[in-house]
Amino acid sequence: MNADFNDLSLLRSLLTLASVIEARDPYTGGHIWRVGKYAKALAEKAGLEKDLVFRAELGGLVHDLGKVGVSDSILRKEGKLTDGEYASIKKHPEIGRSLIYAHPLAPLVMDAVFSHHERVDGKGYPGGLREEKVPLLAGLVAVADAFDAMTSTRSYHVRMDQEKAWQIIEAGRGRQFNDALAGVFLDLGRKGGLSHIIEHCGDERLMLCCPKCGPIIAPPSGTKDGDCLSCPSCTGEFLLHAGGRTFELEPTGRLNPVQYPKPDTDTIEAFVSSVGG
Ligand SMILES: [Fe+2]
Repeated sequence: MNADFNDLSLLRSLLTLASVIEARDPYTGGHIWRVGKYAKALAEKAGLEKDLVFRAELGGLVHDLGKVGVSDSILRKEGKLTDGEYASIKKHPEIGRSLIYAHPLAPLVMDAVFSHHERVDGKGYPGGLREEKVPLLAGLVAVADAFDAMTSTRSYHVRMDQEKAWQIIEAGRGRQFNDALAGVFLDLGRKGGLSHIIEHCGDERLMLCCPKCGPIIAPPSGTKDGDCLSCPSCTGEFLLHAGGRTFELEPTGRLNPVQYPKPDTDTIEAFVSSVGG
């Protein structure tokens, strides 16, 4: 994909770092995969060159790695954050920048990592950048990240109806989001061009719904009828029964309180092989 880029092991190491950080939060399974795919689809539809499409997807995958520096109690808090807690969350772009500063691939993703919470009206962070000062890759990831945050279940909210999310993106054009990019994203999404990503955690992999916690179980590829999976939040275990494109979940009555965070190797390997050809 990127002619100047040969060292796939460097790419794998960067993606593993981002994926392990995502694995800390039980509510974010599949988030980096979706943000990567939304950003890629948006970049393609906007007619950007292949190199930028590649960087958009990579930026979507790694944008939040600075969250490693924010405490679990804040990241997982249910309900409103205090001003101090919000100030702490707002540090994650700077933490991300300092984490990857010396990484050989940093120039490819720095805009996405450092500037994905900037807004074109200047009310974003950390720089309060305005209009075209917001880097293109940051603008792409910002739309993708906001849409996924709205349409996914998190510890602090149940996922939003898709139409409501489109309306919020529309209302944010020229304020929170780059007007042209948000317009392209809306057009793509409203015509069904993102349906294979919404509520998925990988190609042809739908998120599964814990009856207590919501659709937060990300089944690994190769999941099949008769497998057991646990909810990463309440730790309840379920026996899976294949049904159409997804699975019915039957509670086994057991809990798996000790669950090791695992990198999403399916997402990492799929991306690395798409680059390696
Ligand atoms: Fe972020």
